[in-house]
Amino acid sequence: MSSNEVPQAPPSESGTLRDQPGSSHPATEANTSRRSFLTRVGGGAVLVALAGQTYAFLRSLVPNVLYEEPPRFKVGTPDQFPEGVSFLDDRRVFIVREKNTFQAMSAVCTHLGCTVKFRRFDRAQTGTGGGAPSREQQEFLCPCHGSKYRGDGTPYAGPAPRPLPFFRVEVSPDDGQLIVDASEETDREFRVTV
Ligand code: FES
Repeated sequence: MSSNEVPQAPPSESGTLRDQPGSSHPATEANTSRRSFLTRVGGGAVLVALAGQTYAFLRSLVPNVLYEEPPRFKVGTPDQFPEGVSFLDDRRVFIVREKNTFQAMSAVCTHLGCTVKFRRFDRAQTGTGGGAPSREQQEFLCPCHGSKYRGDGTPYAGPAPRPLPFFRVEVSPDDGQLIVDASEETDREFRVTV
């Protein structure tokens, strides 16, 4: 062999050339991409676990408190209420005005707590004249199981076991608004005069 001749690599047993340095083998590439994939999946799982623990920790800082409406609340000035029965949807309470006296009656059915609806008899049924309805001209009906209450809250039909309760009403010395104290039930004759 002359000094200018380049030595040839011997053929492999299968007759092909061996892998040269720097060349990539398909099997090696597959192993590398599989390893990379598994690394990513493992990293993702760790991140998810960390996020879960972080959420659990932050959640533990917030107390499990049930926020309820305060039992004592202002409902507006007396002149905002017309003669008769006004329903305060958000408070589930009726404000009953008779001239310059005011009462607050619960709208929560004493059976299972549905909201009762106010119903006024029409004049043909009662045979009375116009003007504000008397307590005999009005009633409260529960849509859930059919309880019926007279105008003064007394149940007379259906499963309701007790009358609709009345709550204490006061006049705020600050701004003249009516204050209903739903934590204090009163006699059905109780009313505040303004
Ligand atoms: S909840 Fe009113 S009748 Fe049952």
